[in-house]
Amino acid sequence: KKFGPFAPEIYRAPFPYAYRMGMSEVEAVEQCWAAFERMQIAGVDPETVAAVLIEPVQGEGGFIPVPVEFMRRLREFCTRNGSLLIVDEVQSGFGRTGTLFAIEQFGVEPDIIVAAKSIAAGMPLAATIGRARIMDCAHYGGVGGTYGGNPLACAAALATIDLIEREHLLERAKVIGQRIRARFEPLLADDSLDPPVGDVRGLGAMIGIELVKDRRKRTPAAAEEVLAILGRALERGVLAMRAGLYVNCIRLLVPLVITDDQLDEGLEVLIGAMRH
Ligand SMILES: Cc1ncc(COP(=O)(O)O)c(C=O)c1O
Repeated sequence: KKFGPFAPEIYRAPFPYAYRMGMSEVEAVEQCWAAFERMQIAGVDPETVAAVLIEPVQGEGGFIPVPVEFMRRLREFCTRNGSLLIVDEVQSGFGRTGTLFAIEQFGVEPDIIVAAKSIAAGMPLAATIGRARIMDCAHYGGVGGTYGGNPLACAAALATIDLIEREHLLERAKVIGQRIRARFEPLLADDSLDPPVGDVRGLGAMIGIELVKDRRKRTPAAAEEVLAILGRALERGVLAMRAGLYVNCIRLLVPLVITDDQLDEGLEVLIGAMRH
């Protein structure tokens, strides 16, 4: 809203968001795949589709992992159609989900990976990673930018990669994720919470908690209520962000170097803020 003009000829296909679609993951995949196929007849000629771009785990959209079967079908479509599969790992990449890139857990190989954020632990750096036959298509000096190859940011990225290896942060991300789930999943049956927790989901340490008005109908909780929870958590020293189309999800992106004690304390503060 209130931006633009936008790049033309980008087509948006429905994402298999099973929880909000009110169905099983298998059904959501079938429904969204049918829409994707219909789009190729009624929306855009697949011959003109250069690439399919998807986040393996939606970030702003509410921390929703793509069902593995959907990703497999996209890969198969791209290979058959001669399109590139581009995965946006700006949020899901660099160890967050328990593997360096989330796509490693989907059993498919993308053609291009886009990465940023955690790549240099907060220093401004982004990367476009792809097969040489694609990346070398641009002529020498053809792609550039003011901050490209910034030495300080590159040094930070190298130090981050060392740290991920030395501190075994990929395994740690999985443990952090399990610890967060163990604390939040019981809240799915806690009727004393207002708004109640409707869904706890994610991959590795990339966990989202969806708050609803009504657990049965899955009506999204009011954005202001979720903001109020995060405001109370902030007053008590814990920063968390919202996400989701209805801004009714809390996203947890704790630093992978967090200790168990710090994590437990942070989760208690957040849950306390949910209880008022
Ligand atoms: C998944 C995802 N992709 C891309 C971006 C934007 O990246 P950049 O700031 O490098 O344009 C963001 C947000 O910053 C994001 O969350």
